[in-house]
Amino acid sequence: MKLTTEQMEKVENLLSQMTLDEKIGQTNLESPSIVGGFDVSFEELIEMVNDGRVSQDEFKKIMSTASRDYHEDDIRAGLVGGMMGDDPVKANELQKIAVEESRLGIPLIMGYDVIHGLRTVYPIAIAEAGTFDPELFERTAQVAAKESRASGIEWNFAPMIDVARDARWGRVSEGPGEDPYLASCFAKAKIRGLQNDQSSTENYVAACLKHYVAYGACESGRDYNTTSMSVSQLHNVYLPPFKAAVEEGAASAMASFNDLNGVPCTLNPYTLRDTLKERYKMNGFVVSDANGIVECVTHGIAEDAKDAGIQSMNAGLDMDMGTHIYKEYLKEAIETGKVSMEVLDDAVRRILMVKMWLGLFENPYVSEKNIEKYKTLPEEHVAVSLEAAKKSIVLLKNEGQVLPLNRKQKISLVGTLAANRDEVCGAWAMGWKSEDCVSIWEGLKNSGADVAYYLCGGPEDEINEDEIVKACIEGDVVVAVIGELVNMTGEASSKANIEMPGKQRQMMESLLEKTKAAGKSLVTVLMNGRPLGLGWEDAHLPVIVEAWHLGVQMGNAVAAVLFGDENPSAKLASSFPSMNGQCPIYYNHPSTGRPGSKSKFTSRYLDAPFEALYPFGYGLSYTTFIYGEMQVEETADTYDIRVGLKNDGERDGTEIVQLYMQDVTASLVRPVKELKGFVRVDLKAGEEKKVTISLAKADMGFYDNQGTYVLEDGLFRLYIGGNSRDCQCREVRASFK
Ligand code: NOJ
Repeated sequence: MKLTTEQMEKVENLLSQMTLDEKIGQTNLESPSIVGGFDVSFEELIEMVNDGRVSQDEFKKIMSTASRDYHEDDIRAGLVGGMMGDDPVKANELQKIAVEESRLGIPLIMGYDVIHGLRTVYPIAIAEAGTFDPELFERTAQVAAKESRASGIEWNFAPMIDVARDARWGRVSEGPGEDPYLASCFAKAKIRGLQNDQSSTENYVAACLKHYVAYGACESGRDYNTTSMSVSQLHNVYLPPFKAAVEEGAASAMASFNDLNGVPCTLNPYTLRDTLKERYKMNGFVVSDANGIVECVTHGIAEDAKDAGIQSMNAGLDMDMGTHIYKEYLKEAIETGKVSMEVLDDAVRRILMVKMWLGLFENPYVSEKNIEKYKTLPEEHVAVSLEAAKKSIVLLKNEGQVLPLNRKQKISLVGTLAANRDEVCGAWAMGWKSEDCVSIWEGLKNSGADVAYYLCGGPEDEINEDEIVKACIEGDVVVAVIGELVNMTGEASSKANIEMPGKQRQMMESLLEKTKAAGKSLVTVLMNGRPLGLGWEDAHLPVIVEAWHLGVQMGNAVAAVLFGDENPSAKLASSFPSMNGQCPIYYNHPSTGRPGSKSKFTSRYLDAPFEALYPFGYGLSYTTFIYGEMQVEETADTYDIRVGLKNDGERDGTEIVQLYMQDVTASLVRPVKELKGFVRVDLKAGEEKKVTISLAKADMGFYDNQGTYVLEDGLFRLYIGGNSRDCQCREVRASFK
């Protein structure tokens, strides 16, 4: 976030005119209180929608009937800095009060959860990350930015860039997976997409990096749980996406709920003040997560709300989401010297800078024409969402080359997920309308398939054997859509059992038996928001397509892949286990003294494989890619890794070539492999290309336990391949002097 000298002068000028109350007002993020019949805060209600306690329909009803308190008097008095919501008409009304009726006319900043699209929802992050396509990450974010701005939202609570390695954590769906390098590429691209098109205030928003930090490491994947790790691990694994995003200019960050080594991230001076602000030089502001400050009392780190507020502000938390603690206690804290004016000024300055950078002082309102703009989804936004959806689908297994299907085959479609538009968008999607969503059933029909739907069962449904029999007799091929309901992932949706929910496995057993008996093919399409334990499925089902929750265009994207109009190219951004007990499982774990193997006294379970079922970076295609021999060339600053790649099949396709590295001898135990680069390579049928990925020598180091980046001479292994498991390897002896 870059401001001009003139803008900075305006900020300083404003700051010098502000009363203490007005300064504190800027640190207060309000949300409309719902009054009448439903006495919870807006963000709590949103969480209830998100975790399924309140359905979308109930939510819409509540919102249309309940009256809301928008804290107009406080806005007028200059006691509110930001507001949550997505109603452009209301945003304009409130903004008018702030701009025209408050003493200094400081506009509000309006924030909302726009994680993977607002109106034109695109794939959940764990799916989109699997495209390994930064240019696409950027374009989808641009779509979200424009739709947000037209809805009166100038501040998106995104990107969510928590590295997450435990599939039990419900929030793995919201983030870019298990790898810090891929997550960093994702983070940078999202910042560019959300923030960089400043040609008009209609095109950009302030991003909010979340959840800062290490929330993805919550113990045993249980949401809001404690995290504990070495300084080295924090800097090597969990901080890199945040560092990268700050370097790209991220305007704000959200402190996470978890404690880190005993200090809640809401009031953690090491992560907030020392690392984010001083070391990374982030010039934007940090907001708490909802109720984060008061939860520090429950954490047992603050005596009461006032104490929590004082510790948070002193640690570098600039804005309070949802508790009014700053509003109530900061004045006394300043007057008694518990918080210095310098600290408060620093917080307020950062908030004003973001508002200035957003152009809110000159352009505080959503124009009438823009309010109407996205009532129907624009074609170009739908096209981006469709492209992202198609590119996010991972082909996990295709025994007997059953896929792609041809349109002459009669399809029996089963599984309730296939026929439900409301299940396509996934967790933390807030602004979609059912009528804009395409279910898999509809997608197949749209693409000219001869398809009939049978109500055979689903994640929470009973199995209907009669329908199964009919489906297997009447179709040439059975396409079964199974997986998770949207509310099974996302916030507060951790699960101890991440294998196929409900009776879907039994349904598949029955389908398997009956399709075999009838000589029909069986294709399984997965809809889910986390890596599932698919040991049984992999062992029994011949064809498996991972389709995640792909957004409004889901059905059309799945149809395109099933019929081969799109050759699947995505790879997994998270390793899939065979079963629950393998969690957490990730490819880039530290080397043990006894790596898991078939022998007994190694790092393994007696009753589970020691490897992931489908590793990070894995995904098949309808064509075959042949890798030539890997070559490594050293230059002064790089290792250039070259490999020939041939499309050996009859279809055009795209391969994601991945470069990994292992630091074989280091002063700290290093991962068995670390992703260091990747490239998407488009190859026509039969075509051959030379692929080069350069590894900068400067990127071959790691952070030690003082948080210092070190480059250590010694032996390194470089790997290249189509996934993190199946790679070629060359050793190099590197010297960095
Ligand atoms: C809680 C969630 O953790 C966070 O991701 C979200 O942005 C806030 N609530 C606001 O809705």
